[in-house]
Amino acid sequence: MKKSVLKILALALVAVMAVSALAACGGSSSGGSSAGTEDTGSAAAPADETAEAAPLTINEGQLIMATNAYFPPYEYYEGEEIVGIDAEIAAAVAERLGLELVIEDIEFDSIIAGIQTGKYDIGLAGMTVTEDRLQSVNFSTPYATGIQSIIVPEGSPITNLDDLLEGDYIVGVQSGTTGDIYMTDDVGEERVDRYSKGNDAVLALMQGKVDAVVIDNQPAIAFVAANEGLMILETPYTVEDYAMAIAKENTALLEQVNAILAELEADGTLQSIIDSYITAE
Ligand code: ARG
Repeated sequence: MKKSVLKILALALVAVMAVSALAACGGSSSGGSSAGTEDTGSAAAPADETAEAAPLTINEGQLIMATNAYFPPYEYYEGEEIVGIDAEIAAAVAERLGLELVIEDIEFDSIIAGIQTGKYDIGLAGMTVTEDRLQSVNFSTPYATGIQSIIVPEGSPITNLDDLLEGDYIVGVQSGTTGDIYMTDDVGEERVDRYSKGNDAVLALMQGKVDAVVIDNQPAIAFVAANEGLMILETPYTVEDYAMAIAKENTALLEQVNAILAELEADGTLQSIIDSYITAE
């Protein structure tokens, strides 16, 4: 009984959607058929293509990428400009889509919501694919691997993951990252201090406000290189896949991005971008 009611409701919804879609079509075609468009009738095929490509991005001609640009070597500032692996991969994707790349630097934990609400087309932020996030957005094919690493001051009593988990230590993390999520799960809220940027967590470590920082390994290497007296523990915390986040309903963009990623992988572009930022040990 209940099932059939649901079915009828679903059918009704489809009908309403179909009608409003028709209405929208009627509206836009009458609105859009200004004088002059009629006589380009010979270009029927390209016009169709444009019609399909148009809803791919929020602003016509642009690919708006959300990131949090304090995450070297994936995204960081060089003067005014945001550079890094993610910025370059996004630029290569945008170029192949024939779009201008626009990068917005926002809080890491606002990226997914911004994509869901249609503020940004794509999120590239060394972002780990997780089951939870997959409830909210789609992810492209992974383009890199990350590891959650543990940074401690040289000479710290914390020498491995077990020390960190079992002791009474306070851990600094970037808010909303997998480091935050997994640490909070493993040691509880009270022992996790959240910072809006990775560097702020590292600064807190330098100042002795936290005992360790859990963050992705490449930024960890960069932060340790930039600050004396820190080291990375040998035992990694987790291994993860990085991918691009795209709104659930924008499957057209997802498909195109995945096709381009496959090309960039096949022709070596992806690897050469990564190699230009990460030197193999
Ligand atoms: N990989 C981690 C995550 O997805 C951290 C990413 C942080 N990225 C950044 N651009 N700040 O949660």
